[in-house]
Amino acid sequence: MCGIIGFTGFHKAQPILLEGLKRLEYRGYDSAGIAYFRDNTTHISIRKTAGKVSDLAAVCDDENDSICGIGHTRWATHGGVSTANAHPHKFGHVALIHNGIIENYQELTDTYGFGPKLKSQTDTEVAAAVISTKYDELGDPGEALKAAVREMKGSFAFCALFKEYPGKIFAIRNVSPMVATWTKEDGAFIASDLTAFIDYSKRYFAVPEYHLLTLSPEGIRLEDMDGNEVKPEYLTVDWDVSAAQKEGYPHFMLKEIHEQPDAIAKTIAPRIRDSLPDFSVDGIDDSLFEDVRDITVIACGTALYAGMVGAQMIRENFGIPVSCEIASEFRYERPVLNAHTLVIVCSQSGETIDTLAALRLAKTRTKKTLALVNVKGSSIARESDYVMYTHAGPEIAVASTKAYTSQVAAFYLIGVKLGLIGKKILIPEAKEFVETLRTVPDMVHTMLGYEDRVAALTKRLIHAWDVFYIGRGLDYKVAMEGALKLKEISYIHAEAYAAGELKHGTISLVEDGVPVIAISTQKNVHGKVISNIRETKARGAYVILLSRDENVTDPALCDVHFHIPDVPDEFTVFEVIVICQMLAYYTSTGRGVNPDQPRNLAKSVTVE
Ligand code: G6P
Repeated sequence: MCGIIGFTGFHKAQPILLEGLKRLEYRGYDSAGIAYFRDNTTHISIRKTAGKVSDLAAVCDDENDSICGIGHTRWATHGGVSTANAHPHKFGHVALIHNGIIENYQELTDTYGFGPKLKSQTDTEVAAAVISTKYDELGDPGEALKAAVREMKGSFAFCALFKEYPGKIFAIRNVSPMVATWTKEDGAFIASDLTAFIDYSKRYFAVPEYHLLTLSPEGIRLEDMDGNEVKPEYLTVDWDVSAAQKEGYPHFMLKEIHEQPDAIAKTIAPRIRDSLPDFSVDGIDDSLFEDVRDITVIACGTALYAGMVGAQMIRENFGIPVSCEIASEFRYERPVLNAHTLVIVCSQSGETIDTLAALRLAKTRTKKTLALVNVKGSSIARESDYVMYTHAGPEIAVASTKAYTSQVAAFYLIGVKLGLIGKKILIPEAKEFVETLRTVPDMVHTMLGYEDRVAALTKRLIHAWDVFYIGRGLDYKVAMEGALKLKEISYIHAEAYAAGELKHGTISLVEDGVPVIAISTQKNVHGKVISNIRETKARGAYVILLSRDENVTDPALCDVHFHIPDVPDEFTVFEVIVICQMLAYYTSTGRGVNPDQPRNLAKSVTVE
């Protein structure tokens, strides 16, 4: 939520900031701004506007040759969407950008009597005012920042310019993510994530919490709150700039849907040896799984739905009790965990604040926390006892696709490992399962072949008010993710129901023409789901059926049928979800929505 970037070095800053902000727009896109040292003097200029980064570019000065600046793209928390509320905020000699929430902003405003001096409704301007006050008192930017954050409660990633320090950027964070790098040729970069400066470096370090950074063209100094210098721990990513570009696709979401075969293959291949799961690349040996008696999966959003598939599969196939918890609920509960509970925390970004808080709570009850995360070096990855990375590459579209299927695939490997260790599965069966998992990229590839048919079908969906998804077992779990995809990017109300629950209420909403996406791929309940579908059809539903039947032409059952190729029951989720993703994508574009940037949403949710 909110994207921030800073650059100081040997190039003009403005184009780097604007390009970086475009890449960070998935984090927020209601307003944007930059601050820089005009003509590289001690004069700080600000350009900002409500709207997208393209609107910001239109109000920027083409002649700006500053080599040092900071930029921000906003997802509003405190204060509506307006140019006054856009960042950067200037107070006294300080210009500030911020990602996060200062919870005690009102208290700080009252204590210092800032009220009449504030020009916006944001907590960030209050933070700028506190920093500026401390700067006036202490005369040193670093000390001012440290003193200011000691008085703040909440989450923050701050980058600040101080009038008397042209060419320097000062930064500090708590919870909200920030990464940084320095190269001899270019200078110093800092941003919410690496995609913002991947053109310049694949090496970066995650900024530790409560450490002060001073960026200058000659290098980056990192120090703790007591002023001791700390050596940054650099990481390297294995993807490059093209992974963060659309490469000819109209939207990132479509590109990412198509990248799934590769993302899944990259996630599972390094973890298979002799057709069995092996996590030595993650530094995880069997001892982690040996005395596991139960599992708790914790996540939000799409990662939660991936967890639900994983949980059901592991329960059903390997007889291990697995619960799947919503992180924002779990973190405020009194969870029943013990030393034998394996907690799997699943997150694409590794920064979702509720998931992070849930992890911190879980760590007080078990020593077995395993992060399943896509972004290297992210907070959740760093704070878990063990980490397994999905290798989906950067996911830019707000609606998650390739991260989901990669997470599900990783859960499947973990499940087989647990099954083997718990003697719930024999080696030949395990090998067969893993070999089938290895073919998932091909399954997904086959399903992508339905793209034109799905696109044509959405002409019928774009006018819908409600769409219902129904299924049983794993089909119900995948239906939840399908419904989420549709509602988040098309703004059509979409809900998933366990097919058997329909008659306990929801069926009253089914009337003539209401679309029902019916998923029936699980052999043990196929007949039951078909009966449920007929019940909706009898009430006028427009049924789109996804099933393994070869030819379905019965008009009393469905209006449209997608044949799901025959694979073992556990694996149809990978097939079904591809149709659901494409259905959501083309419905969204058909309604004139930009699926990469749906209203009110952000990719990385770093506020509660
Ligand atoms: C947001 C994103 C979703 C994502 C969820 C959890 O809602 O829009 O795509 O699934 O956060 O994010 P995480 O990074 O923890 O997987």
